[in-house]
Amino acid sequence: MPLETEAKAQIRSLVSEFRPGHGDMLAALHRIQHEFGYISGDAIEVLADQLGLFPAHVYGVITYYEEFRLEPPASVDIRWCSGPACRARNGGGIRDAILATLGCEMDGMTEDGRVGVRLGQCNGTCELAPQVWIEERATHTNEIVGHLNAARAIRLARALRDGATATEVLESETVRG
Ligand code: FES
Repeated sequence: MPLETEAKAQIRSLVSEFRPGHGDMLAALHRIQHEFGYISGDAIEVLADQLGLFPAHVYGVITYYEEFRLEPPASVDIRWCSGPACRARNGGGIRDAILATLGCEMDGMTEDGRVGVRLGQCNGTCELAPQVWIEERATHTNEIVGHLNAARAIRLARALRDGATATEVLESETVRG
């Protein structure tokens, strides 16, 4: 069986319980993204077929919602808090230091796909401002690194860029400060 067909079969099995006309589109998209980290062209085709829709309809829904991704994510994401408390404590400087260290743009990633930087919203832990979250797909890590300054942000980004795991970085004295 060709690889692409195997991938489609896996997606079809994942969304087999969803039915046309039951308002299942968002739940199915969330399930696909949770499983694969993004929604591929194959997934769009399979889901459209499952729900009795045109692929363009599914694509339109995906692009309407910010949380859905059409490209594979980085192995590790640094999610930068864009909320007011973090911004007031030099969050912008921390963002710029991280982006410069990784050589990418916001919502981009390093050339090797290892580390990405994504926009985050205030999560209510403003006492830790300025902060980022480290999200590692393989280990399901999702941890805040708070009270950052530019020097620590650079060390954090550099360590991840150079191959450290999220756990190693989070346990590192130099990053924890
Ligand atoms: S503004 Fe960043 S956590 Fe609230």
